Amino acid sequence: MAEGVKYKDLILQADNIFKAFEQEFERFARFRTGVGLEDVTLKDAESLQANLNDLRTRHTGKKSAFASVKKLIGRVGQEDRAAFGQHVQSLESEIERALGETDEVLKALVSAGRLERERIDVTLPGRRPRRGHLHPITLLRQRIEDVFVSLGYAIEDDREIETDYYNFDALNIPDGHPARDAQDTFYTTDGFALRSQTSTVQIHAMERRTAPLRMIAPGRVFRRDTPDATHNPMFFQVEGLCVDRGITMAHLKGTLSEFVHRLFGPDVRTRFRPSYFPFTEPSAEVDYSCFKCGGNGCRICKGSGWIELGGSGMVHRNVLTAVGIDPDVFTGFAFGFGIDRMSALMYKLDDIRLLFENDVRFLEQFN
Ligand code: DAH
Repeated sequence: MAEGVKYKDLILQADNIFKAFEQEFERFARFRTGVGLEDVTLKDAESLQANLNDLRTRHTGKKSAFASVKKLIGRVGQEDRAAFGQHVQSLESEIERALGETDEVLKALVSAGRLERERIDVTLPGRRPRRGHLHPITLLRQRIEDVFVSLGYAIEDDREIETDYYNFDALNIPDGHPARDAQDTFYTTDGFALRSQTSTVQIHAMERRTAPLRMIAPGRVFRRDTPDATHNPMFFQVEGLCVDRGITMAHLKGTLSEFVHRLFGPDVRTRFRPSYFPFTEPSAEVDYSCFKCGGNGCRICKGSGWIELGGSGMVHRNVLTAVGIDPDVFTGFAFGFGIDRMSALMYKLDDIRLLFENDVRFLEQFN
């Protein structure tokens, strides 16, 4: 009977298709039960879920082999049609059940895994942001400013890029003057230069305020120096200027000795040594007795008992004249010293470059 053969064939075909499904499903079998899956990672569960979906479309979709078997029901003989239909139905529902149960388990695994991943423990203490602090040079600069502000000085902040006029000419350092060589700096292509000294601010301040005036100008200066333990091509100075009627060197001495007293204590002494600066006449180097050993000699003052503060002197007539202040009516004193060098001494740094390397291990010691 032709119909009978066809029926058996079709049963066999359906069973083979089911076997093929079972074979592929085997790797998912352990997930169907949902037990003993503690070792499954979220990533694995997610990719298994995708694989299972793929398995479903291939085995139950419209274009699946199983779907084509189902279409043959109509061609099964009347008497076998019901039995064939039931057989195919039971295979199909077994496939559906296997896929459905496994999918449930994987879904649960994935959602538990995601929950775990996104879990935030709101009871954990917060991480406090680390607070920064001021740079040691800034700290010293502020102390210096405090002293002079309390002595009635204004604080001038001025440009770092200058013309030759302010850096040299107006300070009585004409073109060709040997003092220019000692302060070689960095030049721009259009006639400007980075200031090599804060003395430039003397000129700006006198032009702007005229006499009488008292000001200090802390700031960055630049020189064409090769960096070493005691030199940097960029460093900090503080300039001081006091112009009024009747100002003498006694005022200069009194002011600087008051300054070192406030900075280092009342026992620290000052002394002047004759010197030369083009913009002062007379000029003097100022020293103060070592804040560490009190003048007996130690490593900080290199055994001399004295530490150099900087340059100073009575403002040169030519400088006053350059800014339109009458040198027969007004006199003044000026001084300038290096902040970096001072802080290197105060903090016993062997190398001034430490101040600009921005190594946090170094900087955080000044908190
Ligand atoms: N500008 C000088 C320098 O950089 C320091 C200086 C010396 C400043 C004497 C002054 C001064 O105001 O009177 O070497």
